[in-house]
Amino acid sequence: MTSHVMNTYGRLPFALSHGQGCRVWDTEGKRYLDGLAGIAVNTLGHAHPKLVPALQDQVARLIHCSNYYAAPLQESLASTLCALSGLQKAFFCSSGLEANEAALKIARKFGHDRGIARPEVIVYEKAFHGRSIATLSATGNAKVQVGFEPLVEGFVRLPLNDLDAVRSALRGNPNIVAIFLETIQGEGGINATRWEVLRGLRQLCDEYNLLLMLDEVQCGIGRTGKWFAHQWADIVPDVMPLAKGLGSGVPIGAVVAGPRAADVLGPGNHGTTFGGNPLAMRAGIETLRIMQEDGLLANAAAMGERLRLALSAGLHGVPGFVELRGQGLMLGVALDRPCTELLGRAAERGLLLSVTADSVVRLLPPLIISAAEVDEIVAILVPLVREFLGAAPPPRA
Ligand SMILES: Cc1ncc(COP(=O)(O)O)c(C=O)c1O
Repeated sequence: MTSHVMNTYGRLPFALSHGQGCRVWDTEGKRYLDGLAGIAVNTLGHAHPKLVPALQDQVARLIHCSNYYAAPLQESLASTLCALSGLQKAFFCSSGLEANEAALKIARKFGHDRGIARPEVIVYEKAFHGRSIATLSATGNAKVQVGFEPLVEGFVRLPLNDLDAVRSALRGNPNIVAIFLETIQGEGGINATRWEVLRGLRQLCDEYNLLLMLDEVQCGIGRTGKWFAHQWADIVPDVMPLAKGLGSGVPIGAVVAGPRAADVLGPGNHGTTFGGNPLAMRAGIETLRIMQEDGLLANAAAMGERLRLALSAGLHGVPGFVELRGQGLMLGVALDRPCTELLGRAAERGLLLSVTADSVVRLLPPLIISAAEVDEIVAILVPLVREFLGAAPPPRA
């Protein structure tokens, strides 16, 4: 059959029809355990009994209105995000790349306001920030960029976790206005910025009057067991793009800013039709409320630890298994070889996951996951990976 959808994704040959909790079913009735949550989006799993009626209520009241009018739901979600992060103001949009685009505009305007005509931003190898022309230029993966040149200029690329490289870049370049990175790289293979490096970046940003901009689109919203992953390092950024899990499935993005950046953009500087619409705002408000009410940060930390320990025990010493990376419910099983085929093989056995950076099996399950469901992921994934690497099956427990 000829498809009328542009061919931009490699897709598995089945369609999901509905879900409940951490389970989803395809149109043929096959059931899967959701270890991916729509790539860190379905924070509350599927058809959450508290979220569904709230969204139904909002749909029946007001789905969309323009930003010409006062926006009480934006005020409400912004104030919660600020209370949770220690930041001051939020701008709303509808996706991760838009949140990052807003952050980059803030950085450039911050520079121009200080008389820097050609502001530059430090970015990182293996980073992923989105697929618009500016955010793909900030991304550190040639595969995302090839064919879309000329790239946007004004980025200085450095290796992750190397403070000396940042110091020398800053010494030689008065145009640098911001340091922009994912607190934990997602698409790049689950690579964490070390907490002491984050603290070092915070200090350098203070010393040089730069913006520390932490992309928490994938690692934020409770996924690591704290509201935001950088809170493990006990620092506060100046700018924090969010998206994915914030609406638990309803498209949403936000950029949240602290005192150095909160008032950089003024009327007429930025905007988007869908940004902050009532349905998205209600989804964000209810997601954060339910996460608090149901103790989902603690659950993410505890279930993440359970998953990590069981996967380590099951794969320890297997030739070809490199390491387990990540924090909370953002985990990567790094192998020594490309393993994209595991995506389909896991689905055959009833587990949804992803493979990123070619050789890293990535797990990002809903934050509501139970201990029994974690054990089920392990019971499917460990034998699958061992088999793939040509190792003997795990000994029976
Ligand atoms: C860290 C990070 N930033 C930005 C994006 C882009 O978000 P979106 O796909 O919503 O544009 C992603 C998506 O994977 C991401 O992981």
